[in-house]
Amino acid sequence: MLSTLILPLFALSAVSARFTAHSIASRPVVAHSNAARSVAAHSTKPVAAAWYAGWHATEGFPLSSIAWEKYNTMYYSFAETTQTVTSLSLAGSDGELLPQFVSEAHAHGVEAHIAIGGWTGSIWFSSNLATAENRTAFVKTVTEFVSHYNLDGVQFDWEYPNHQGIGCNTLSANDTTNFLSFLQELRQNPVAKKLTLSAAVSLAPFDDATGNPSTDVSGFAKVLDYIALMNYDVWGSWLPNVGPNSPLNDTCAASAKQQGSAVSAVKAWTDAGMPASQIVLGVPTYGHSFTVAPSDAFAPVSGKSGKQLAAYPSFNASNQPLGDTWDNAGSVDACGVYEGSGGTFNFWGLIDNGFLTKEGKPADGIYYRYDTCSQTPYVYNESKQVMISFDNAESYAAKGKYIKNAGLHGFAMWEAGGDYNNMLLDSIISAAR
Ligand SMILES: *[C@@H]1O[C@H](CO)[C@@H](O)[C@H](O)[C@H]1NC(C)=O
Ligand SMILES: *[C@@H]1O[C@H](CO)[C@@H](O)[C@H](O)[C@H]1NC(C)=O
Ligand SMILES: *[C@@H]1O[C@H](CO)[C@@H](O)[C@H](O)[C@H]1NC(C)=O
Ligand SMILES: *[C@@H]1O[C@H](CO)[C@@H](O)[C@H](O)[C@H]1NC(C)=O
Ligand SMILES: *[C@@H]1O[C@H](CO)[C@@H](O)[C@H](O)[C@H]1NC(C)=O
Repeated sequence: MLSTLILPLFALSAVSARFTAHSIASRPVVAHSNAARSVAAHSTKPVAAAWYAGWHATEGFPLSSIAWEKYNTMYYSFAETTQTVTSLSLAGSDGELLPQFVSEAHAHGVEAHIAIGGWTGSIWFSSNLATAENRTAFVKTVTEFVSHYNLDGVQFDWEYPNHQGIGCNTLSANDTTNFLSFLQELRQNPVAKKLTLSAAVSLAPFDDATGNPSTDVSGFAKVLDYIALMNYDVWGSWLPNVGPNSPLNDTCAASAKQQGSAVSAVKAWTDAGMPASQIVLGVPTYGHSFTVAPSDAFAPVSGKSGKQLAAYPSFNASNQPLGDTWDNAGSVDACGVYEGSGGTFNFWGLIDNGFLTKEGKPADGIYYRYDTCSQTPYVYNESKQVMISFDNAESYAAKGKYIKNAGLHGFAMWEAGGDYNNMLLDSIISAAR
């Protein structure tokens, strides 16, 4: 949805609200020895976090719906980058709610962080960090924002350094080195020394100047408390087959089906010098839908077991199903380009739309498959010809167990409002314990 409002959200000149087109379609988280600062207190405890999407506050998930007592960190999404290095914009995310978000988080002993960027809000990261002058200015912008809102942390959700995201991001071969220089300068700032700093990242380490994943991210490990691996949107309508939205593993899949997973991403990041103890696993509360004909949906029948869902069926890309009520039929994105329906169903949306029961189990007449490699479930409504790759309590338990066994630094859920009766949240908390 193209917002045409210019909201007067701030008095502070450094944080002036600006026009920002914000799509509410699919959107597409330590201990380290830096003697200069003392982050040990908030870095040893595993992160139990979620993103709170400000624009959903008036769409069924007000602040009062957050199960604060189950978390220790909450990210407010998003403050978006702007063309001016001296400002951040909350225009797409109900900026007037942010002070209340911070006070409620603090009342519950939860760290309140701002997530800067996101899919639609990363357009100006590259130019804002491009020169020493701009980096110093952006340090000032971020620290003033933090002080103004009394925040405990900042998460940089740059999608992505030297790698195009939404389509119209400013981009430079030097993005990753500029990002590191900026974070080093930010860390020296007296305000930022006390903050929890993180970055939401893709499955491969930040692209270096040659456009390949960096082979050494150890510098980032020194200035960030942690990274949050966005292990979702791994498969979707942009690929030729239905596949897992959020695979835990893919090294067990056929090589053509290895599109990334928690296991392979943790290997890639740790090989590049990010300790596992500084990696938070980002987990989705939603799934992607596909139109799949019955002739593709089912595996060859094997005797009395009846119809079984096929693995990686093809789908009709020209017939993207509409998702739940948080999806939309199509909208113009922040680059001015029309985007069709995202087709995403939140966990509650799967229940609302009859795929799952209120207990989170497949409803009567709905076909179900749990893939043991990706450790994620699928549901299929044959008459509607809709297949959905998603996450449930079982896949969340597998992810929680992996977090514990691999020594990761906890989990972060996109998004707090996607769950139903905290079924996913409770599952990952108890498995990761
Ligand atoms: C530095 O930031 C300003 C915006 O405040 C921008 O106009 C300029 O292009 C940036 N510099 C570079 C080299 O991108
Ligand atoms: C990247 O950084 C190098 C070294 O500072 C500089 O010479 C070069 O012009 C920069 N390239 C771009 C595209 O900004
Ligand atoms: C991932 O798959 C590989 C290959 O099958 C297996 O050795 C490994 O244990 C799996 N890891 C997890 C966390 O499931
Ligand atoms: C795919 O969907 C489009 C739009 O609904 C439809 O016109 C087309 O016939 C479908 N293709 C197949 C192979 O079913
Ligand atoms: C499948 O979807 C159709 C159309 O929305 C609905 O009428 C039907 O009840 C669903 N099937 C099951 C088994 O829930």
